[in-house]
Amino acid sequence: MCGIVGYTGKREASGILVEGLAKLEYRGYDSAGIAVIDNNKINVSKVKGRLANLEAQLSESPIQGVVGIGHTRWATHGAPSVTNSHPHTNENGTIAVVHNGIIENYLELREWLKEKGYNFVSETDTEVVPHLVDYFYNGNLLEAAMKAVEKLEGSYALGIVNVNEPDKIVAVRKDSPLIVGLKDGENFIASDIPAVLNETRQVYLLEDNQFVVLTASSVDIYSADGQKIEKEVYHVTWNADAAEKGGYDHFMLKEIHEQPKVIKDTMTSRIMLGEEIKLDKITLTKEQIDNIDKVYIVACGTAYHAGIVGKYVIEKLARIPVEVDIASEFRYRDPIINEKTLMIVVSQSGETADTLAALRLGKSKNARVIAVTNVVGSTVSREADDILYTWAGPEIAVASTKAYTTQLIAMYIIALFLAKNKETVSDSQIEEIKEAMIGLPSLVEDALNHKDNIKKFAKEFAKETDMFFLGRGLDYAVAMEGSLKLKEISYIHSEAYAAGELKHGPIALIEDGTVVIALATQEDLFDKMVSNIKEVKTRGAHVAALALEGNQTIEKTVDAVLYLPKVMPLLAPVVSVVPLQLLSYYMSIEKGCDVDKPRNLAKSVTVE
Ligand code: F6R
Repeated sequence: MCGIVGYTGKREASGILVEGLAKLEYRGYDSAGIAVIDNNKINVSKVKGRLANLEAQLSESPIQGVVGIGHTRWATHGAPSVTNSHPHTNENGTIAVVHNGIIENYLELREWLKEKGYNFVSETDTEVVPHLVDYFYNGNLLEAAMKAVEKLEGSYALGIVNVNEPDKIVAVRKDSPLIVGLKDGENFIASDIPAVLNETRQVYLLEDNQFVVLTASSVDIYSADGQKIEKEVYHVTWNADAAEKGGYDHFMLKEIHEQPKVIKDTMTSRIMLGEEIKLDKITLTKEQIDNIDKVYIVACGTAYHAGIVGKYVIEKLARIPVEVDIASEFRYRDPIINEKTLMIVVSQSGETADTLAALRLGKSKNARVIAVTNVVGSTVSREADDILYTWAGPEIAVASTKAYTTQLIAMYIIALFLAKNKETVSDSQIEEIKEAMIGLPSLVEDALNHKDNIKKFAKEFAKETDMFFLGRGLDYAVAMEGSLKLKEISYIHSEAYAAGELKHGPIALIEDGTVVIALATQEDLFDKMVSNIKEVKTRGAHVAALALEGNQTIEKTVDAVLYLPKVMPLLAPVVSVVPLQLLSYYMSIEKGCDVDKPRNLAKSVTVE
C-alpha cells in the first residue's frame, strides 16, 4: 500500500526522499511524487509508474530544498495518474500533503469544502486534507492539522508541509503506520522502518492519534488534545529485509494477518448502519436491476472460489439465478448472454487473460459487466461498466489470501445492493447482515489465534501425500479454497468434495489414516455434516473439523476440532478460510517449500 517519507535537515531533500521511497517499493505502488520547500515555494514533482520515472524527471528538472515529503501511491480512489498521485496541495500551493489510508467521509468533506469555495483537481480522497488544513490555518500548522484531522473519518498517516513554516513537517497517524527517524541535525518520517534504516536506527513508533512536529533539530510529539508526550526511543536491531515483511517470515503470513484491516477497508464508506449502501463506481439503476434475469460470475482460481460464495449469497438474498464459471471454460461453451445478463468478473490483478476474454465476450453480447478487482486502473476495471474495488492493498505472495477475503466482502456487498433494489430482503434483515459484517474483522482476528494448534497439526501431517476437504453449502465453497491453497504452496495433493457427494464415488479413496478436514460451520447443515463425517470415520479417516463455538457435540465424532467464533452462517466463509490458509502455510513451512513463490506459478496470469 502507499508509502510515506519525509525529511527535514541540512542536506538536499529530494535524493533522500527518493531513496527512502525506494525502500518502501515492496509495499507496491503505481505512482510516486515528492514536494520540497524552497524559497517560500513548494516544488512538486510527480510521475505515474515507477520511481525510476521520478528519478529521471528529477534529473531533468531538479528541485532544491532541505525540507520535503514523498509518497508512493497504490491507487484506491481514482486511477493511477500524475494528477491523482501525491503530494496533493491546496489551491495556491502553500500546503502539501502525503497520505496513506482511506478517508471514509471524503465525499461529504468534498461537498462541504466546495460550498466554501474550494476547487478539486483530483479524484482522490486525500485532496480534502490540504484544503481542510488551508481552511483551518491561522499561523500554526500543528493547530490547523489537528482541526483538520478532527473532521476525518477513516484511516490515515499524513505528512504535511507549509511554506509559512518552512523548517517543519507535521505528521499524524490513525490506523495506518507511521514512524519517526531520529538523527543528529536531521529527522525523518516514514510509513515503515526500512525507509530510514540507511540513515538511522533510532526511531519513535507513533501510536494512533499522535501528532509529531519535526524540524532539523527537534521532534515534539503531541496527543490529539495538544498535550506534549514523552516517548521512548526504539532502537532497531533487525535488518531491512525482515522489516519489509513486517516482522513476519513470509509475505503470505503477513498478508493473512492483514485480513482484519483490509476486510474493514473494503467495507469502509460502503456499509454503514442506517445508511444506504454506497457504491460510487456502480451506476446500475433500480430499473436496470429489475431487468436482470441472470447473473454470471466469471473468474479463475481463488477468485472463482469467491464467486462460488457469491452465487450462494446473491441467489439467497437477491433471488436472481446465478451461474459461476471458470473463465477459461466460459467463453468456449457458447453461454447464453444478452442485455438482461449481469456479469460479475472477479480478478485480484485485473489482468488475467481468461477473465478479460470472458469480460469482452460478455460486453460483445450486451451484458452489463461489474468488475471486482484489487487494482485500480487495471484492464478489467477499464473495460467493465461498473467497478467494485477490493481494498486489499498489493498482494505480494503468489498464493492469494487477503484478496480472497476482500472478494468475499465484495460479493456480500453486491448481493445486498441487488437485494435492496429488488426488495427481496427487508430493511431490517439488511441492517442485521451489515451489522454482522462490521463485526467480521474482530472475528477474523480471533480465528488468527489458532496458530499453535494448526502448527502442531502441520507438524504431524506434513508427510501426507493426499488430503480431503469436505463441506456442505458455503462450507463446500471454502473447502475448495482450502484445498487449492494446500496444493499450490505445500504440493500435497488434495481434493475438495461436497460432503454429500462422497458416497457417490470418492469415498472409495478413504482408507486407514486418510486425513480429512471437515468444515461444519453451517448450522442448518450441521447434523447432515456430522453424518458425512461418520461415513469417513468408519472407513478409518483421521478427521479434523472446523466448527463454531457451541457445537461441542462434534467432538464425539472427530479426532480433533478447532472452534471458530460464532458468526452469521452466511458470513462464515470469511472466518473459516483463515485456519485453512494458516494450515497450508504451516504445511508448506514443514515441507521446506518456497511459500511466497511456489513452483510453476505466477502472480498474474496474462496468457490464456
Ligand atoms: C491462488 C491464486 C490464483 C488466482 C488466479 C486468478 O492462490 O492466486 O488462483 O486467484 O490466478 O487471478 P486474478 O484474481 O488476478 O484474476
